[in-house]
Amino acid sequence: MERRVREWPDNIISPETVESTDIRIAELRTGHLGTAMGVATASPSVSWRLEGDAPFDGARPAAYEIRATWSNGDTETTGRVESDRVSYRAWPFRPLMSRERVGVAVRSWLEGPAGEELRTPWSEGLDVEATLLRPEDWVASKVGPPRSIEQGRESAVFRFRREFDAEQPTRARLYLTAHGLVVPYVNGRRVSDEVLAPGWTSYEHRLRYRVHDVTDSIHAGRNVIGFELAEGWYRGRFGFDHGARGIYGTRIGVIAQLEMTFADGTREVLATDESWSCTYGPVTFTNLYDGEERDLSLDESDWCELAADMESWVPAVAADFETSALEPADSPPVRRTETVAPVVTESLRPGVQRYDFGQNLVGRMRIRVDGPDGATVTMRHAEVLEGSELGVRPLRLARATDRLTLSGGFVEWEPEFTYHGFRYAEIACSDDRVRVSGVEAVVIHSDMRRTGWLETSDPLINRLFENSVWSLRGNFVDLPTDCPQRDERLGWTGDINVFAPTAVLLYDVAGVLRSWLRDLSAEQLAHESNVPPMFVPSIITEPHLAAVWGDATVGVPWALYEQYGDPAQLRESYPGVKAWIELVRTRLSARGVWDTDAQLGDWLDPTAPPDAPHAGRTDANLVATAYFIRSTRLASRIAALIGEPDDSERFADLAESVRSAFIAEYVSASGRVVSDSQAAYALALVFDLLDDDVQRERAGERLRDLVRRGGHRVGTGFVGTALILDALVAAGHSADAWAMLTETRPPSFLYPVTMGATTAWERWDSMLPDGRINPGEMTSFNHYALGAVAGWMQRSIGGIQVTEPGGRTVRIAPVVGGGVMWVTSRQETDYGSVYTSWRVEDGRFRLEGSVPVGVRGSVVMPDGSRHEVSSGNFAFSCAAPVPNDDPSAQPRGRDRMVIRSYYP
Ligand code: BGC
Repeated sequence: MERRVREWPDNIISPETVESTDIRIAELRTGHLGTAMGVATASPSVSWRLEGDAPFDGARPAAYEIRATWSNGDTETTGRVESDRVSYRAWPFRPLMSRERVGVAVRSWLEGPAGEELRTPWSEGLDVEATLLRPEDWVASKVGPPRSIEQGRESAVFRFRREFDAEQPTRARLYLTAHGLVVPYVNGRRVSDEVLAPGWTSYEHRLRYRVHDVTDSIHAGRNVIGFELAEGWYRGRFGFDHGARGIYGTRIGVIAQLEMTFADGTREVLATDESWSCTYGPVTFTNLYDGEERDLSLDESDWCELAADMESWVPAVAADFETSALEPADSPPVRRTETVAPVVTESLRPGVQRYDFGQNLVGRMRIRVDGPDGATVTMRHAEVLEGSELGVRPLRLARATDRLTLSGGFVEWEPEFTYHGFRYAEIACSDDRVRVSGVEAVVIHSDMRRTGWLETSDPLINRLFENSVWSLRGNFVDLPTDCPQRDERLGWTGDINVFAPTAVLLYDVAGVLRSWLRDLSAEQLAHESNVPPMFVPSIITEPHLAAVWGDATVGVPWALYEQYGDPAQLRESYPGVKAWIELVRTRLSARGVWDTDAQLGDWLDPTAPPDAPHAGRTDANLVATAYFIRSTRLASRIAALIGEPDDSERFADLAESVRSAFIAEYVSASGRVVSDSQAAYALALVFDLLDDDVQRERAGERLRDLVRRGGHRVGTGFVGTALILDALVAAGHSADAWAMLTETRPPSFLYPVTMGATTAWERWDSMLPDGRINPGEMTSFNHYALGAVAGWMQRSIGGIQVTEPGGRTVRIAPVVGGGVMWVTSRQETDYGSVYTSWRVEDGRFRLEGSVPVGVRGSVVMPDGSRHEVSSGNFAFSCAAPVPNDDPSAQPRGRDRMVIRSYYP
């Protein structure tokens, strides 16, 4: 890719011009779902934003009032509550009951520095509806295929249906989950846009259900309701090293309850039980890794209509199941979020076409196809090409192959119960009369709101940033995974621990991560050792005690709290936080450091041999101890925040004693750190482990020298990469941070970009310069861990740093360099959008931007000048920093970055 400086765009992201001077409440919501139906707790949190222009400067929220209108018409309000918060306010009314509906509205008071006050009008009402909130609300049995149907086709898709008579309901709700993967239909129509429902959780602890509004699908008279059911994570082959079948059980099944309310207020419930019928459908095989096979000769397109031929249908088998694991989903579901057309179509040989979608993405293909009976269409997927072939070796034992057998005529097809990570796909037709058209890739992931954007004058840097965005999208398929393509796709704790501070900037990941953290806690605390599994949900029985991975118990909730400011998350995670600290405390050796367990260290350091990713240059015990100090300090802060002062004090003392031991074991008086590696210095500096300025200064210089000696190439793995640029800037060497970011020789941040990467890679050289795929077994082209650099880019290039949970205060301090001439960025916070745009022109640095109402910003310009801004637009300029060939001549110490949680 050619490096090209782009023109300053006309349509630069600029503060939104708001015509009205009114200020109002917008985006009122409860919980994490993003929809008002299906509220998952009896006491949901309430969040909103202030939108518009305040009529006076420095306006900040001073108070709010929440009003509830109950279904009997009664109204209740909180009265004026003094608070400047706008998100995750605790439910102030009596708990909701299952199915209960209530109207919620909010208004807010704003206050100015001179005592001015303003009250917003009431927001539009939000009608929320609780889902089923108690296991006792469930009367459904689990219905599965009988042996006679299932035998020999365990990995097929089964169909279930039931006819019923109904009056026209005024409200109809379908509460649904499964042991397996399920798609619901009513009267022949699919009634949910979710895919891979109910997603993957630690099913033995948590089985989430969702509710669908099916009021409009049901008519007076006779109706049919049906489901398609696949094995999915519950029973299908899953896991590396051939994986296992039946991880959660041998019997799959649908658990559903259709509840219809009629005009006279009566309610009728139709639940899954032995009165349902079952048969198999046209999908003869499906597996999350391997793909899907559909034989259209077996299809009965009217299977969920009254006219269906019932000959092959037999009674379904009903069974009890553990209702205590049922939990209402409070995170966004997986949906189709985008379709991508191929950018290149190539005919390889008769009947075989190859498609390049121009983007490594996660989902599956959708095609239109016409052809004779019995002909087949086979789709194979890969992330990269090796030579002229699909590079499928990195998929290991994931076949990633979908096959359609035609029955004559035209169909549209998209596999349903599988997904692949791919940029390239080959479609092979068995017969030259087959016509394939309309090929597109359908992107799927948890349907989250994007919150962070960055664009610069350098297309390579922009691509690097977007690569992290795409890796986040591809690896948030209901839970945070390591990779989306090979036979893993597991919730590896270390990966999300290093990436979470970046993830929270790019998307609203609160719902997905909160769900996942519940599994993490459940599995950790259920195990007698309190050791968290290395990946969650865990599919192996013995957990392994490892730093960074296990530290996710602390790091992930903290990253959520810092960005979104929801104290409930900290409270919920605290038992696991505490258990982790207490556990590792017992593993400290007599020297006071954590050097008693086998560690993964700075995993995938570029000098580690391809087959030994843990064998990097940084002492793995140093990494473990450094992380433990950070986690213990954070645990102390969390304990203080949730009202556990004794624990807080104890953890603060523990952190300090381990830090002293760290210094004694790993740091010289003059600030040299053992291993003498980029990661060792990055940890010592960013986690603030050193004794004094003398050590910090020396460590910073040594890091700078190492980085320079390495030609500004990257020398870090999973751990160090998330910290290295922050460390350089904090030590006053921002020009070296920029030089590192813009280096293209491998291993470097931009090397993958120059090799055409469109996602973050697992290894710095997942693809070698000669176009061969790295021989290591662990070679994915879509792993977000090294993509953590996007967080630095957003905070430092865009210059927007949230400095108080939820974004009540922000620091705007762009780090200029790298020859970049302009930058625009936007960060959504709980309070609204923060924008920055800067450019270097005619020797001047010009910064403009905007902060939302209620947010105070400290602007730090490159010349060190400071400005306080609030609620609205700002523009400042100063002399542009002089480009200097000698990065050491850059100003040091004067403009240190605030490194969020890392300086507790
Ligand atoms: C995964 C990693 C993970 C590591 C730990 C790999 O197979 O893909 O991302 O953290 O194993 O062992």
